[in-house]
Amino acid sequence: MNVKKKIKAGVIGLGVGAHQARTLYAHPDCELVSICDFNKDKLSKIGSEFFNVHQTQDDKDILSNPDIDLVCIASYDEFHYQQVITCLQNGKHVYVEKPICLRKEELEDIHTNLKMYPNLNISANMVLRTCPLFIKVREEVSSFKMGDLYHLEADYLWGRKEKLISGWRAEADFYSIIYGAAVHMIDLVLWITGKKPVRVKALGSNKIASGTSQKHNDFVILLLEFEDKMTVKISAHGGGVHPHFHALKIFGKESTFIHDYTNTLWIDTSDFNQKYRHESAPYPEKKLRGQSLISFVNSLSNEEQKVLVSKDDIFNVMSICLAAEEAVNSRDTVTIKYL
Ligand SMILES: NC(=O)c1ccc[n+]([C@@H]2O[C@H](COP(=O)([O-])OP(=O)(O)OC[C@H]3O[C@@H](n4cnc5c(N)ncnc54)[C@H](O)[C@@H]3O)[C@@H](O)[C@H]2O)c1
Repeated sequence: MNVKKKIKAGVIGLGVGAHQARTLYAHPDCELVSICDFNKDKLSKIGSEFFNVHQTQDDKDILSNPDIDLVCIASYDEFHYQQVITCLQNGKHVYVEKPICLRKEELEDIHTNLKMYPNLNISANMVLRTCPLFIKVREEVSSFKMGDLYHLEADYLWGRKEKLISGWRAEADFYSIIYGAAVHMIDLVLWITGKKPVRVKALGSNKIASGTSQKHNDFVILLLEFEDKMTVKISAHGGGVHPHFHALKIFGKESTFIHDYTNTLWIDTSDFNQKYRHESAPYPEKKLRGQSLISFVNSLSNEEQKVLVSKDDIFNVMSICLAAEEAVNSRDTVTIKYL
């Protein structure tokens, strides 16, 4: 009998990475071999959920373990690039939390390394793609029910100011609210529309976090321009008064979609007397968040299974983020260079 070999996995960083570890531990095609965190207490607390899973405080134990096929990187942003490169050079697939890296040269280096190791794959946790509401909206858009789109607005209302003004995000030499928050809305827009912008304009500010340890922008607003004249406004609010929420408005020739904190609805007419349609597809839906990692594991164990977030998706979104960061700093319109 042909017994399928399990994918052996390790996880570095046990904040959001604890969820990844649980997903891998529960996956029938996967064996969670090792988990890593600097923090000993967190390591043993999360580790106590698993049987026979090695615990380490040193990421090298995972990155250089020849038995490990797949590494989930959920460490602080500043470590992602080096950990991704080491994984690839040591023959491991990578599932990385955003941002994949922090600089243009790093993105190019990862791209080059992936070309050198074509048998290895990479995916990322673009979690909004697993939300039933956004899946429904994407279906409506791709089946042209809204007609040609001319404008979208996507706002990331983080509502977790304390995470921005204290801890590793505030202590880092560099932190980008674009790479940390706007990235999700950029990915959502590309995924829903199937289009890539050509240019970006942007403004940012540090009014909310001013006087705290967070010296970088806590708010950004981006304007994306597309070849077909479609426009997109994206904002990321690191502070501000709002529960954690992903607001989205889509304007098409045939209808308008509005998802804000008070309502989610479709508007098919400009007539005051006509009713709008309420949308009830679930948002948020935390139970399905593991689907992105599950789809990656499935694609590794069966080539015919399509991954939810592809290599190209990651490079496209990060190329836009890098251009947007440049646009905030230069106050110029920046042409986006895709890899
Ligand atoms: N995709 C998403 O929706 C999503 C959500 C939250 C966070 N993130 C990303 O996940 C990463 C972690 O964020 P978080 O919110 O989980 O932070 P966190 O502070 O809650 O947890 C991070 C953990 O990783 C450990 N750690 C960091 N670097 C390490 C290293 N090199 N070796 C060993 N342990 C290390 C820390 O000790 C900490 O326990 C960040 O890159 C963040 O942007 C993504």
